[in-house]
Amino acid sequence: MSEKREIILSGIRPTGRLHYGNYFGAIKTFVDLQEQGKSCYYFIADYHALTTLTEREDFFRQTLDMLRTYVACGLDPAKSVIYRQSDLPCTAELTLLLGMVTNIGHLERGTTYKDKMSKLTDRRDGTEGNPLSYGLLGYPVLMAADILIVKADIVPVGDDQRQHVEMAMDIAQKFNHRFGETLKVPAPVARNALRLPGLDGAAKMGKSEHNTLDLLDDPKTVLKKIKGVQTSTDPAPLSVESNEPDMVIPEMAPSLGTLYRLLHLLAPEDVYLDFMGKYRRQEKFYGLLKTTLAEYVSKFNEPIIERYNDPANNDEFVMDFLRENARKVTPVALETVEACRQAMGIGHSLHRA
Ligand code: TRP
Repeated sequence: MSEKREIILSGIRPTGRLHYGNYFGAIKTFVDLQEQGKSCYYFIADYHALTTLTEREDFFRQTLDMLRTYVACGLDPAKSVIYRQSDLPCTAELTLLLGMVTNIGHLERGTTYKDKMSKLTDRRDGTEGNPLSYGLLGYPVLMAADILIVKADIVPVGDDQRQHVEMAMDIAQKFNHRFGETLKVPAPVARNALRLPGLDGAAKMGKSEHNTLDLLDDPKTVLKKIKGVQTSTDPAPLSVESNEPDMVIPEMAPSLGTLYRLLHLLAPEDVYLDFMGKYRRQEKFYGLLKTTLAEYVSKFNEPIIERYNDPANNDEFVMDFLRENARKVTPVALETVEACRQAMGIGHSLHRA
């Protein structure tokens, strides 16, 4: 009997251009798991993007561009099932069903909800309309549906999403307890997904923080961004804890710390160690550090940009594989929803007869 392959699932919100934080925090892991021959499901979480929508955005365009970048980074739609969340609308039904076993107090403690809530209380001028929607409160339930619908074993996510995966485990357990063993409970998330700090030294590189280095940045942009990084020699302690066990970062200005992390990721060990030595000896070296790093970054981006612009990697190609992969994931998903309906005693398979 052949051993059942582990099922991996993860999602990324369509936020436009992908940056180094996305790559080293998620995409690289996605590609590694794909190359280990696991059964991988990766999707663009466009329903989730709607929960924090403040103005109209062209998610379709952003989704296509993101997927072309995924492909350029090595994700292969022939090996991984790469789809768009909204092409699997039965996720919405599962969300509804799971909502019946989800405690509101639990949701109110969710990180995304709490963040948004505190931002709202920071500026109570009411100019934003009402961003605290039912959909936002339900963010973790939708995410649980994404995970449970494909019967995922493992959900690789960054530390900021760990709590959501734990909520999904909890919801699945509650469901099973109440309606009988129906849903596969995923394994807890392994710790220490890499989180890159921003070019400004902030704890997180993020699009809304405006501190990203992007995978599609050309050499000129790369150099400009890196040259613009503050390398103040004030011995401000590093604001983020290093979560890379093999890498020792001395106390240095946070944005300088970001440059060192990037160098560690992209350059050969001896180059990195050489610059570490320069730092310890307090030589004047920031200019050289920046131009050296910029070269490694551009070298890293070059093949990605090339594959991104490959005429074969066009919108039509993406739309074709989206269509095909939605067809691949749908039967698995419908099976889960049907099992839940049966367990709950509703909508009993009339359509099957
Ligand atoms: N919430 C995740 C994020 O913002 C994206 C996401 C949606 C996801 N559904 C998921 C990740 C299911 C893993 C599994 O990054």
